[in-house]
Amino acid sequence: MTSENDRLIEAIDRLRRKRNAIILAHNYQPAVIQDIADFQGDSLGLSRKAAESDADVIVFCGVDFMAQTAAVLAPEKLVLIPEERASCPMAHMATAAEVRDMKEKHPGSLVVTYVNSTAEVKAESDVCCTSANAVSVLRSLPKSKPIVFVPDMHLGEYAGKMAGREVILWKGFCPAHHYVKADEIRAAKKKHPDALVMTHPECPLDVVELSDAALSTAGMLKFARESDADEFIVTTEVGMLYPLSKQNPGKRFYCPSAALLCPNMKMTTLQSIVRSLEKDSYPVRIPPDIAERARRPIERMLAVPRD
Ligand code: 13P
Ligand code: SF4
Repeated sequence: MTSENDRLIEAIDRLRRKRNAIILAHNYQPAVIQDIADFQGDSLGLSRKAAESDADVIVFCGVDFMAQTAAVLAPEKLVLIPEERASCPMAHMATAAEVRDMKEKHPGSLVVTYVNSTAEVKAESDVCCTSANAVSVLRSLPKSKPIVFVPDMHLGEYAGKMAGREVILWKGFCPAHHYVKADEIRAAKKKHPDALVMTHPECPLDVVELSDAALSTAGMLKFARESDADEFIVTTEVGMLYPLSKQNPGKRFYCPSAALLCPNMKMTTLQSIVRSLEKDSYPVRIPPDIAERARRPIERMLAVPRD
């Protein structure tokens, strides 16, 4: 018997062929969305896919700033986000006006902006970074210039320490990663003494420092694949357990904290993807002048060699 999900997946397959569309899903998306996606990955990897693809329509299953980055990098394509309310709270903890004020307070400084930010904030920035390349980006900057890091204070603190650079920190944070406690990692290590700990650098520094590796979501998939270990404590949004388990049958993955849930990442449904492909909902449009200015710091980031 055909289930409702099977019917929706058939409709998605028919529509994506008809529209010459691709479906991109972030690693934290619900399992059923990851399973039907053409590509799955971290925020930057997906934006790159959007830019390289010859599809006419990109359905971005993730949160607002990711779809915006895709729209900035692929201005000739129609970028759709199936759930209009799927938004990253951290990305809205900095506005363009606040960043301009900060630049006035620190004349001559360079603004390094995490990709988890709005296109308007990127447009005010010197260079972007992701959780995968923040340390390399900081190391690439001239030592004579002060650095303002926007908006994630934890990633900024971690990357500044690793790069040996002093960083003026914004006060933003991710509500899913910020509340993880060092004691929760200690307890998880006690419960799973053979497990390696992989942590996203959006967590507080004392949590990162208890870990074997600080990694982006794509970095975690690589680390788990290449490691000889069989067990891992995964200190990032709980959706990450699905691609890790799927790609590494036989290995075990544990989530150390109930805080690690991002409700915005769980909004996408098969229904909303069908609606998106039928009705062009919801188009992500960046004003051309903002897109042009936001593209420069993203391209500067892409030109920074990895350490
Ligand atoms: P990644 O770029 O590592 O996938 O992280 C995005 C994110 O939102 C983490 O919370
Ligand atoms: Fe934003 Fe945190 Fe959700 Fe990532 S997990 S999208 S940083 S709120």
